[in-house]
Amino acid sequence: MAARDASGGAPAFDTSVAHIARVQDCWLGGKDNFPADRIAAQQAIEAMPDMVASVRNTRAFLARSVRHLAEGEGVRQFLDIGTGIPAANNTHEVAQAVAPESRVVYADNDPIVLAHARALLTSGPQGATAYLDADLRDTAPILEGARRVLDFERPIAVMLVAVLQYIPDEDDPYGIVEELMAAVPSGSYLVVSHPASDIQASAMAGMASRLNELMAQKVRLRDRAGVARFFDGFDLVEPGLVRAPEWRPDRPEDAATPSTMWSGAARKP
Ligand SMILES: C[S@@+](CC[C@H](N)C(=O)[O-])C[C@H]1O[C@@H](n2cnc3c(N)ncnc32)[C@H](O)[C@@H]1O
Repeated sequence: MAARDASGGAPAFDTSVAHIARVQDCWLGGKDNFPADRIAAQQAIEAMPDMVASVRNTRAFLARSVRHLAEGEGVRQFLDIGTGIPAANNTHEVAQAVAPESRVVYADNDPIVLAHARALLTSGPQGATAYLDADLRDTAPILEGARRVLDFERPIAVMLVAVLQYIPDEDDPYGIVEELMAAVPSGSYLVVSHPASDIQASAMAGMASRLNELMAQKVRLRDRAGVARFFDGFDLVEPGLVRAPEWRPDRPEDAATPSTMWSGAARKP
């Protein structure tokens, strides 16, 4: 089965195989998903019952990290790669609520995210947003597109939230992050959230193996040291690399809620 574009023309995207953007939409209670996505989402929940709580906590981490960087560190530019289908508290909404002049470039390689991109381009008159249909593995077009909207002489927060797990070691995820961070100036930030192989290890391994049978994109879990390596050479913002809800929680009791995602933010010296 293939969804068609509004003109009834060529198939826009394949709906017979689960795609992570749409599976994530199921976990978040959205409506932009198809039976194959719902089956994969449910299989993951059966293997890892904390899945939905963990996904929600990752979204909340995304919002808190943007708010902290905008409010506490004065960051006004964001490059959010692996954006996902628009949901509550997208990066530009959080950043522009703090500073209306904030500029945000989004990038994702899934056609359904592209189909929803208009919802990400609703910036107020002072700020700016842009959307790039691009693959994280190909950094040159992302940086070229981002340069049209962002000033690379001023700090930029590079957001890689729940996306690096789709880059296998063979595709050099550490090299990709290095290329992105080499392009931004001192005072820029890297934000990463990544599923753990060393939290609820057996449930996580079961979840990943079920998703890898059903989903177009394959998941690669990493342990804390493997995620920490993305931040090599940068200064971690307090409290360092922790489970998502432990990162600057709004209420102390939130820190103990379920999450299997190593999450952190760091400043490029
Ligand atoms: C789990 S969702 C996370 C969405 C959002 N960052 C969040 O935290 O809610 C992962 C997103 O990364 C995108 N993605 C996966 N591999 C990608 C790649 N190689 N290049 C760009 N985007 C990718 C998917 O299409 C999906 O929208």
